Amino acid sequence: MMRGLVLALTLLCAVAQAATPGKAAIASAHPLATEAGFEILDQGGNAFDAAVAVAAALAVVEPYSAGMGGGGFWLLHRQDDGKQTMVDARETAPAAATEDMYQDEAGKVVRDRAINGPLAAGIPGQAAAFDYLARRYGELPLSRTLAPAIRLAREGFPVEDHYRALAGYRREVLNRYPHAAAVFLDGGRLPAVGTVIRQPDLARVLEAIAEHGRDGFYRGPVADKLVKGVREAGGIWTKKDLENYRVKERDPIVGHFRGGRVISAPPPSAGGIVMMEALNILSQFNGGEISEDLLPHLTVEAWRRAYQDRGRYLGDPDFVDMPVDNLLSNSYAEERAASIELDRATPSSELGEPVATEEGFHTTHLSVLDADGNRVAATLSINLPFGSGFMPKDTGVILNNEMDDFSSKPGSPNAYGLVGSKANAIAPGKRPLSSMTPTFVEFDDRVAILGTPGGSRIITMVMLGVMEAAAGKPVEDWVTRQRFHHQFLPDRVQAEPAFLDTPEAKSLRLRGHDVVSVEREYGNMQAILWDRKAGRVSAAADPRAIGGAEVRAPAPADAD
Ligand code: DON
Repeated sequence: MMRGLVLALTLLCAVAQAATPGKAAIASAHPLATEAGFEILDQGGNAFDAAVAVAAALAVVEPYSAGMGGGGFWLLHRQDDGKQTMVDARETAPAAATEDMYQDEAGKVVRDRAINGPLAAGIPGQAAAFDYLARRYGELPLSRTLAPAIRLAREGFPVEDHYRALAGYRREVLNRYPHAAAVFLDGGRLPAVGTVIRQPDLARVLEAIAEHGRDGFYRGPVADKLVKGVREAGGIWTKKDLENYRVKERDPIVGHFRGGRVISAPPPSAGGIVMMEALNILSQFNGGEISEDLLPHLTVEAWRRAYQDRGRYLGDPDFVDMPVDNLLSNSYAEERAASIELDRATPSSELGEPVATEEGFHTTHLSVLDADGNRVAATLSINLPFGSGFMPKDTGVILNNEMDDFSSKPGSPNAYGLVGSKANAIAPGKRPLSSMTPTFVEFDDRVAILGTPGGSRIITMVMLGVMEAAAGKPVEDWVTRQRFHHQFLPDRVQAEPAFLDTPEAKSLRLRGHDVVSVEREYGNMQAILWDRKAGRVSAAADPRAIGGAEVRAPAPADAD
């Protein structure tokens, strides 16, 4: 009887809610990339086609963040059959990679080798992801979806302050590699605002992919040039490494928080597991409905514990066994929550085994929802701004330095201060552990799509966004909210400058947390909210950078 009533009410609610959004939304880190996505939707492409177009355009106009020389994670939802999957296009270590390849004879890690130049580059996954998405999920061929990016590469895009800031950060390294410097600098100096950056070599590489799919990149003339350039400059890539690269489809991490179903990135990203473990710990306190005064403290304590487990257990699932079910279980969350004191910060040293993480630089996220309800959350990266700084001759492809996301030596920190365990040691063909956290959250009456760059801080940023969404806040609040972060070690709350004056910071200090400013704002969140009850779609780009978020009705040609 009761069950019948619940069923009837559920059906009634479902009827009252739109089955499809009827409008499309795209949020990405550059307005020109967002526009490229709408161009493809207008041509009859679906969200998966649009996401490829956006990512390809970002590879051109946001060359410091992600691109054909990098990889990333694509979280997909197909509306027809409800399929949810993650396309893992993370870079792999070349076959000649060794566990101690960044150490000198004395066993000391040579940081320069791990982040600069061709030895720092893993085998890119982006072109394979484009090909895979187009063939398995898209409606349009790559010759259509890559067209806007090819045009942008040929015609150029104007330099703005954001570009100058990131190129400034990597200028010295770019200047070591003449082909990269010729494209991204102006006589070795930072190009002035308004300078048009044209990338004809990159246009040709995109054309090869548009014409030949994955073979356009992983075999033939482009592959030859990539391998030749890398090896001549001291790298270890082989043609076999490129030929062997494959994306992998993996089941997302799924959990629940405050009535929302959270879907996020599985290993080799730590994102979904760390976020879900932390959300599960919060759920131990009144189901996650926590007073404003206590919430920051409990959030930090949850992060502290979840990040400790990141360092202890996580790596590439094809190489290491991980206690994933246990980490995500309610009984484990209960056990972890039991060590939290309501009135005092737990020093990380009291929790055992130190594993440290720090700081983030650049990468990109895009969120797409099409009018039919298909969704993509993709976080893509070449790691540090302009990746390794290295560009093989005649390719226009700037290579990643994602190898630095491995742990080069037990106890030795990477660019984010991350110190990993054996689980994340370098091995041929292995994928380095990531923090990228593309995420969906499904509530009874609304759907959220979000993600951000930010190195090890990605996970806490996305979780703050999920918490905003769960509290029913509008999408603008998720991307603007002041950010704070804790990652077990260093044992301090790292926060944006403006966070220090908030009541949240005060409540943390009262409980003994060391709250420090990281001196600048961080993150570049791109988010979409589909409110099914109100029949409304909204999108927001992080105001900290130059992104573009828009909601549009289908083009007139497509309307009934
Ligand atoms: O995969 C990772 O976790 C890093 N390579 C991401 C780097 C990043 O987000 C830099 N961003 N600002």
